[in-house]
Amino acid sequence: MDIFQQQQQQQSASPKEVLESMAAKQGLDLLGRAFADHLDNIDPLKGMRDRFLFPRVADQMHVEGIQAEGECIYLCGNSLGLQPKTTKDKVVEVLDAWAKLAINSHFHGPLPAAYCDNYGKEVLGELVGADPSQVVLMNALTVNLHLLLLAFYQPTETRYKILIEGHAFPSDRYAVASQMRLKGLDPEEAMLQVRPRPGEHTIRTEDILQLLKEKGPSIAVVCLSGVQYYTGQKFDMERVTKAAQEQGCVVGWDLAHAVGNVELKLDEWGVDFACWCTYKYLNSGAGCLGGSYVNARHNERSQPRLQGWWSNRKETRFEMREYCDRDSTVDGFRISNPPPLLVGCVLASLELFREAGLTHLLQKQFLLTGYLELLIKHYFGRGDSDSPAVTIITPEDTSQRGCQLSLIFSSPLKQVHKEITKRGIMCDIRQPNVMRIAPAPLYNSFCDIHQFVTILGNVFALCKIEAA
Ligand SMILES: Cc1ncc(COP(=O)(O)O)c(C=O)c1O
Repeated sequence: MDIFQQQQQQQSASPKEVLESMAAKQGLDLLGRAFADHLDNIDPLKGMRDRFLFPRVADQMHVEGIQAEGECIYLCGNSLGLQPKTTKDKVVEVLDAWAKLAINSHFHGPLPAAYCDNYGKEVLGELVGADPSQVVLMNALTVNLHLLLLAFYQPTETRYKILIEGHAFPSDRYAVASQMRLKGLDPEEAMLQVRPRPGEHTIRTEDILQLLKEKGPSIAVVCLSGVQYYTGQKFDMERVTKAAQEQGCVVGWDLAHAVGNVELKLDEWGVDFACWCTYKYLNSGAGCLGGSYVNARHNERSQPRLQGWWSNRKETRFEMREYCDRDSTVDGFRISNPPPLLVGCVLASLELFREAGLTHLLQKQFLLTGYLELLIKHYFGRGDSDSPAVTIITPEDTSQRGCQLSLIFSSPLKQVHKEITKRGIMCDIRQPNVMRIAPAPLYNSFCDIHQFVTILGNVFALCKIEAA
């Protein structure tokens, strides 16, 4: 039986329970390398790993004192996804079409420039749970957040606040603050932040709902992240959307850390708008095109918005009219013509998502992150003289997280990061105090996790990193 079949037999079990029963059936030690090998062997998605390019330790010339060889253990897909092997082919195809067809590559060739951004709509729609007509590839994430807020943030005398989470990603915070200033409002007054309770790391859903109840009538837009970049917490998007809309708020989600990572049902939840980048779990390359969603119920609304020739309906775009014949869907939020080179990069990865299937990816993610959690808690949960304590601040409840676990160390974070980097681990740290480890089910293996935890243990033991 493969990992999915075994998981299906224990539907309401925790990842730990599923893993324990799998190890017991095989007579394997839950903590041993042989069990990680076994899990990889019975992983139906194991072949996907070979479709990506893994960085090699020898190429990390900037890292001093390297003590490893071969491929890096890449646990950073939450920050920048790996490059699919087909990305280069897609880019070369576009360059070839430009070379051979020149201006005719606008309407002909493998990825015609004039419609190339339509090609990803179907898979993107599947990934965010939306009809393809309501999603579009354009610009970058913060630009899209601005364009959407320009349309949806219409403050009045009494309803003028935007709700974000405390410790929101800086770019979102700056975007929101600048939108307020554009409307003549002071962010100190108009920005409302929901925070964890003292002594806690993540935000309780009940606290968001309570705040909406108390302050709802003053909130114009709720603009939270689907999965929080620092803690890895997945918010209850369905309940928050419903509660906020009952209060008359518009609801937009930043899905940068959610898309391709957790299940999204934007249509079913009735979300107003959303935006995301494609270079994290969607593996399109740094700074590549972002995605946006606008619910079709807003199609006929004439919100003020910025326009360019790509906001014009495609049927009349080339009539070069004096006034914009605006596309009423999310496509009408586009301004400039799309770059096929970048669309090609997005498509290379979306094709792999389609092949793997989001359902399978989510199933694997449940076990992969669960395995990481299990090993960390076992080896570093208590903290002793040999191994300082590691605390996982991401929720234990699997419905409140995706791939990422955020770790806090009782020892100096930067020193730990430096030592594991020398040993071939790639992961990131974020100020003030967190290491993010995000196994991506498309390309990470159970052995990656086992190796990471082994290296972390070795570093604690060998480098005399002591509890602070
Ligand atoms: C939550 C979140 N918002 C905004 C951004 C900024 O994205 P961009 O530079 O593509 O605008 C990021 C980038 O990592 C992010 O994680």
